[in-house]
Amino acid sequence: MLALNPLSLLRPFFSLLFFGGLSSMSLASDQSSFPDIFRQSYLLEQGVNFGNALEAPQEGDWGIRLEERYFDLIKAAGFKTVRLPVRWSAHAQEKPPYTIDPAFFERIDWAIDKATERGLNIVINLHHYDELFKNPSVHQPRFSAIWEQVSSRYQNRPANLLFELCNEPHDIDSDRWNQMILEVLPIVRSTNPRRGVIIGGTDWNSLKKLSELKLPESDRYLIGTFHLYAPFKFTHQGAEWIPGSKAWLGTQWLGSSEEKECIRIELDHAVDWWEKNRRPIWIGEFGAYSKADLPSRCRWTEFIVRECEWRHLPWAYWEFGAGFGLYDRLQKKWNLLLLRALFPFFAFPKV
Ligand code: BGC
Repeated sequence: MLALNPLSLLRPFFSLLFFGGLSSMSLASDQSSFPDIFRQSYLLEQGVNFGNALEAPQEGDWGIRLEERYFDLIKAAGFKTVRLPVRWSAHAQEKPPYTIDPAFFERIDWAIDKATERGLNIVINLHHYDELFKNPSVHQPRFSAIWEQVSSRYQNRPANLLFELCNEPHDIDSDRWNQMILEVLPIVRSTNPRRGVIIGGTDWNSLKKLSELKLPESDRYLIGTFHLYAPFKFTHQGAEWIPGSKAWLGTQWLGSSEEKECIRIELDHAVDWWEKNRRPIWIGEFGAYSKADLPSRCRWTEFIVRECEWRHLPWAYWEFGAGFGLYDRLQKKWNLLLLRALFPFFAFPKV
């Protein structure tokens, strides 16, 4: 059952306290000064994914390469957080010690710097490591070695860099995924005892499977995550990577009471998870593909954001400048209707 979390009432106070402290923290490498995980989770508010760039096999393969001005654009639009999907597995040796390519690491350093220089919070994840789910026992050592390198490299960064262990685990059951988490998390914790670590359930980060996660009770620096793409036939109509999705073309989202209720139920479940587990929760992806009609996309996006806001559920829109995109890179223009669905008071682009 849904009940308002009393912590959410203290949110403005926490934000002041925390954001006030963040600038002084930015030089500190000692994580003992990191705030508790609820305050860290406030950093995840109003986010956008830089999708299709660094999780493509090679950056640029899927049409988008990150540019410094994109960070200015999202900052000016009002986003506070960037989620950066990263395909580490395409840039690490296949055999032990599974060294990550130094040039790729520098590219990620660059992206983190560009975000944090502008006061944006940033989540880096591990994206599209599909081999891990095809053969978990063979790939677990490589998965761990990647996180060992990533977490030690960034251990001195301030608390507004967060880690997300793995995007959308799939084709494995929750027991197996729980086991994999237990193996990799201590590696991250050996260098990052208090950094926010984000973890979702199997079935492509479904909300349903989130409740099957068995996170270590003693670790109080974890944030749950799930992806919201309901109804899938609407959000993924015509998506080239989803077999059969052409047949869904033309599906609208009109905001009927039944349509709204389906989304409210999901969000209420998310709040239940938060209360039951005493851990914050984050919607790391939600968005509707550009093959859906724009009025429906705007209605759906706006409804989700407003429903998240009063529940104090932080979100990150999928994504900035590709197929679900808010920004048209060729015309160098925001899709203002979609952007206003996220930020109703957004007036004119400042950059
Ligand atoms: C996947 C993308 C996909 C998106 C929506 C992401 O997690 O990495 O490839 O476009 O979900 O389906």
